[in-house]
Amino acid sequence: MPVAFQWTASLATGVPDVDDQHKEIFRRANVLFEACVRGKSAEEVRPLLEYLQSYIREHFTAEEAQHDAARYPGRVSHRVLHRTMAAHLAELTLVLEEAGAGANLVRLTNRLVVGWLVNHIMREDRAFAEYLRSRPTP
Ligand SMILES: [Fe+2]
Ligand SMILES: [Fe+2]
Repeated sequence: MPVAFQWTASLATGVPDVDDQHKEIFRRANVLFEACVRGKSAEEVRPLLEYLQSYIREHFTAEEAQHDAARYPGRVSHRVLHRTMAAHLAELTLVLEEAGAGANLVRLTNRLVVGWLVNHIMREDRAFAEYLRSRPTP
């Protein structure tokens, strides 16, 4: 089961804090995937899932603070996307509790973190970075 996911330069937004946080999300996701593949129990995997979920929530809060500070015109719609992702992230806890730390958890986490998040970085986080670069310096 291929689970390791590498942050690559193709995901760079050019905003250093944001890029560092994205790298950390993928690092934490890989720790979780590895534990699942090694057959760790739900009790052992639960803190790793929480570690990933809490970091992603912190990342969203940090990005939204940057959007507000920069008066980013797309900040409300970007925030809605974060909220939707956060709700799906929270559902992973139910998957773990009901189905254990098996293939289902890996598949759904992979779909969220690698699928949804990569897409979000490429479109939405990059759009904000572009806005930062293009606006006149105050
Ligand atoms: Fe982001
Ligand atoms: Fe974002």
